This record gives sequence, C-alpha cells and structure tokens, in this order.
Amino acid sequence: VKHILLDVDTGVDDALAIIYAVKSSKLHIEGITTVFGNVGVKQATDNTLRVLELAQPGYEIPVAMGADAPLFRPRRENVTAIHGANGLAGYELPASGRLPVDERASDFIVRKVREQAHDITLVCTGRLTNLAVALAKDPSIAQKAKLVLMGGAIKVPGNVTPVSEANIHGDPEAAHRVFESGIPITMVGLNVTEKAKFSEAHYHTLMNGFSDQQAALKSFMHHIFTFSFEASERLNEGKYRLMHDPLALAVVEDPSLVEMEDYYVYIETKGQLSSGATLVDFRRPQSRTNASVCMHVREEAFLQHYIRRVLS
Ligand code: BDR
Ligand code: CA
Repeated sequence: VKHILLDVDTGVDDALAIIYAVKSSKLHIEGITTVFGNVGVKQATDNTLRVLELAQPGYEIPVAMGADAPLFRPRRENVTAIHGANGLAGYELPASGRLPVDERASDFIVRKVREQAHDITLVCTGRLTNLAVALAKDPSIAQKAKLVLMGGAIKVPGNVTPVSEANIHGDPEAAHRVFESGIPITMVGLNVTEKAKFSEAHYHTLMNGFSDQQAALKSFMHHIFTFSFEASERLNEGKYRLMHDPLALAVVEDPSLVEMEDYYVYIETKGQLSSGATLVDFRRPQSRTNASVCMHVREEAFLQHYIRRVLS
C-alpha cells in the first residue's frame, strides 16, 4: 500500500482522480489539500468533501484548504467551459455535512510529511502553490517525500498557451520552486494525459458495470462524462474526456503503465509568451536531473484499469 497526500483543485478530472484513489486498495489517502485552479479554493474544498462522501459514504479523510491565488500573480478566471460553473459539470452533489480541518494546507503538508512513519508520496493535480509554500516553511520535507504531479507539456503543445499546461502556467513561480527544491519528481504531463481519452465505449463499459448499490456514483459519472463529451465536441475535438488527473494517481499505483526518462526540467517564469513552459534539457549526457518524465503511456491498459477500480 502506498501512502499519499493529494493536492487538488476539484475540477471534473480531479473528482475522477479522487474517486479512483478512494476505491484503490493499493493507495492509502493520508489527507487531501485543496488549491485554486479550475475553481476558487472554497469551491474546490466543498467539491472535494462532496466527492469523498459520494465515493465512499462515511469515509474519513482530513481535507485542508489552501491557497486561493498564485504566489505572486492575480488569479485567473475559473475554467467553466471544461469543468462547469461549480467545477463538477454543474452537478449538485449532496452536501457532505463535514468541514475542512482547521489547519492551512501548507502546514498540513509539512506536518504530515514530518510525522509520517511510511514513505509518503505527494500527488499534486493542480497548481503547485501549496507545496511551494510548504517547502518554504520547511525545505527538509523535500528529502522526506516524493512528488507525482499532473502538469507540464513535453514535445506537445500546451493547453493554455502554445507551450504551457494549465497547472504549471497557473503558478509558474510555485512550480519553479518545487522543481528546484530537490524533491524527487515524477512528471505526468500532457504528452501522456492527452492520450488517455475516456471514450463513449469506455463510458458504456463503465455504466453497464455499476451495481444497484452504486446508483449515486453512476448518476454522477453519467453526468460528468456526458458533459465532458459535449464540451470536447464543442471545442471541435473528438467525443472523449481527457483523464489527466486520474492518470497521475494510476502512475503512483502502477508505474508500469508508463515509460519514464530522467531529465532536468526547467520552469519558465519570465517569458513573454512562454511563461509556465516546462523546458526539458534533452541534451546528452545528462550531468544532473530533477524529474522522471513520463514519455509513453499504455493508455488502453490504464483506462481499463480505471474502470475496474471505480467499479470495485
Ligand atoms: C490540468 O488542468 C486542470 O484543468 C485539470 O484538472 C488538470 O489537472 C490539465 O491541464
Ligand atoms: Ca486538476
């Protein structure tokens, strides 16, 4: 069992990732921290609590609220076209009846990493702001934890600018600090997550697999996949949902789903057009590296694995 701390900006695919993590018997969630991104941090926190209650009613995981803006920049608008006005494709999940813990996300991360008797993996599927603040409070946590992050674009276009992916572009200074901190990084970027297309065929397999006891989860997933299919068709893409954040979780559970190569990844913070770019030093030989970069994914194996976990 791998012990993880999740940092999310819930968000449709973050919700899909949380459901996966809760259902996986190979992952133990020590806590969840929230950050602005797809929506504001209050909404992300409320969404996270609701999704947890849906995934496994009564499941007790501490949720700590974090940053509502980048370290040094103003926050950009919510990503409503892809995530809906409330971040959950407009679906109204019942309120969880629970509150976030009375501790800032960055303090929570520092404490959990310090206290942890096991190896701990931080899994960040949003902006890296909370982790950057945690590292500023205690740089030694970089030696006590690993990081798997969804973010960056390598050898493929960005999804916010021609070269930048949303999670890095949304707080480049935070990403820069994290990449220079010495924490061992596994980078799950757009070059692999954009291959993970959950299609209509996958949707039908999933829907047909739910039991009667899973009606609430089925209804939620039906809604967010049909919303996502419409959104991607509107953007003139195919009819699918990109499984960015769930892939990061699956890589934690089963690294054999991807092929990785070690590189030094620089985060561009100053470029006029390239702010938030992940610049990989592909020159050989590599004298030093800071990240294991996912280069290839067995996407169909991942998608089938995802479906099995959710139905378990
Ligand atoms: C990332 O941006 C967010 O919109 C998604 O949740 C994902 O984490 C993809 O670029
Ligand atoms: Ca996300």
